[in-house]
Amino acid sequence: MSDEPIALAKALASFDALWSPRIVTRVNDYDVRVAKVDGEHVWHAHDHTDEFFLVLDGELHISLREPTGERTVVLAQGAVFTVPRGTEHKPYAPSGAAILMIEPTGTPTVGDRHDEIPAHVDATTGHPLHS
Ligand code: NI
Repeated sequence: MSDEPIALAKALASFDALWSPRIVTRVNDYDVRVAKVDGEHVWHAHDHTDEFFLVLDGELHISLREPTGERTVVLAQGAVFTVPRGTEHKPYAPSGAAILMIEPTGTPTVGDRHDEIPAHVDATTGHPLHS
């Protein structure tokens, strides 16, 4: 982890892979990750942790399966949203987006339960950022 400030724009420019988060820093036991996303992720749930999203660029949709039914929240640039632990969700970026996530170190991007993982989705606990 760097002991220097991280410019998020520079961090995002350092890789091209979609749905493949890079760890930019850590806060206590949490990763701060950035990702470039486009199209659909996969339905999944994190049984033991909430998941924080901040949209840095573009627009992110997150479909949620809640006890009352399914709904989709739309996050514009600058919006934040937390998916509660245990809630099945599927991020979707119709026109591409850059996002920042905060979740416990070691949290798999596809959760503890998930549908079949499509080839374009990287099932990872986050990659180190190479500056
Ligand atoms: Ni998730």
